[in-house]
Amino acid sequence: EAIEKGGFEHFMLKEIFEQPRSISDCMRGRLDSATGRLVLGGLREYVNKLVNADRILIVACGTSWHAGLVAEYFFEEFCRIPVEVEYASEFRYRNPVVREGDVVIAISQSGETADTLAAIELAKSKGAIIFGVCNVVGSSIPRATHAGAYTHAGPEIGVASTKAFTAQLTVLNLIALIVAQKKGTITEQKFHELLVDMETIPAKVEKALKLNDQIKVIADTFKDASNFLYLGRGYNFPVALEGALKLKEISYIHAEGYPAAEMKHGPIALIDQEMPVVFIATQDSSYEKIVSNIQEVKARKGRVISVVTEGDKLIPKMSEFTIEVPAVHEALMPMVSVIPLQLLSYHIAVMRGCNVDQPRNLAKSVTVE
Ligand code: G6P
Repeated sequence: EAIEKGGFEHFMLKEIFEQPRSISDCMRGRLDSATGRLVLGGLREYVNKLVNADRILIVACGTSWHAGLVAEYFFEEFCRIPVEVEYASEFRYRNPVVREGDVVIAISQSGETADTLAAIELAKSKGAIIFGVCNVVGSSIPRATHAGAYTHAGPEIGVASTKAFTAQLTVLNLIALIVAQKKGTITEQKFHELLVDMETIPAKVEKALKLNDQIKVIADTFKDASNFLYLGRGYNFPVALEGALKLKEISYIHAEGYPAAEMKHGPIALIDQEMPVVFIATQDSSYEKIVSNIQEVKARKGRVISVVTEGDKLIPKMSEFTIEVPAVHEALMPMVSVIPLQLLSYHIAVMRGCNVDQPRNLAKSVTVE
């Protein structure tokens, strides 16, 4: 097992550090900005179903559901197709409306999650075309879908998903870019810019991983907290949910992720001098709005930890701790901004003596409902 961990103390840490490679593995042979080449063999003739879809329904659970939420923003922005992201367990039991022209994308690392599989079967029985975005080759979900694309992240052993998440985002972005180009809902220039930016992601993730020592200090400061709040807006809202989920899963600290603007409708009541609040506040179209949300937390003496874009001058002045990640187009930022949150939860869990790779009560793959 020590050999399998490749010198890392836990599988989770190894998998976090593997991400520059797993993301490039995921893009290999599929994307080349120099030639403008973008292909996903597994979509086959079904790609036109997506191009002509009236609506996309994304079904998933856990971290995969968070990847679906990021994809909702991406598909709506660039493909102009309405997207609904569903917890598979809710979708399957509520007699959902599935119409002709709806296309389902099922996301699953293991390809074995019982609720997701059942949601697929239900949508199929109503005549929908189903795409799979899975990591484990030959698992049940890819076999049940009409077409799909593998994430090629390699085996993920840590129960808390890390590299599978960033690989899911990579594949979903590629699918959306293919569809946007075919539909003509993206300009050639924007398409090209995004391809170039996608290719820079592994190096940017590599740079974000260099924050590891700095994040250990933050972890040490907050390891005894009983609650955490994670706030983000736009593309970084699902990242806030994922950051909170990572912390709960492995450190057993209660954590909530929220859209920053929704804070005033509830979570703000929780803020006092004991409450660490993690803002994912990179430079994007909602930057100014999130700055005011930080001020609201500061005014209530909350302890602000911010993930910002390198070179940000304003937010560090308002934060007790600042984590700087490299700049990238806002639609691609989740692949970078999630990295420090994975590391933060990992170090807090280790410092609390938790079993990081096999947290209590959780399973890697949930094959029962
Ligand atoms: C379990 C795992 C999570 C995962 C979720 C969905 O809860 O512990 O890490 O996100 O299942 O799994 P899937 O394999 O469908 O992505």
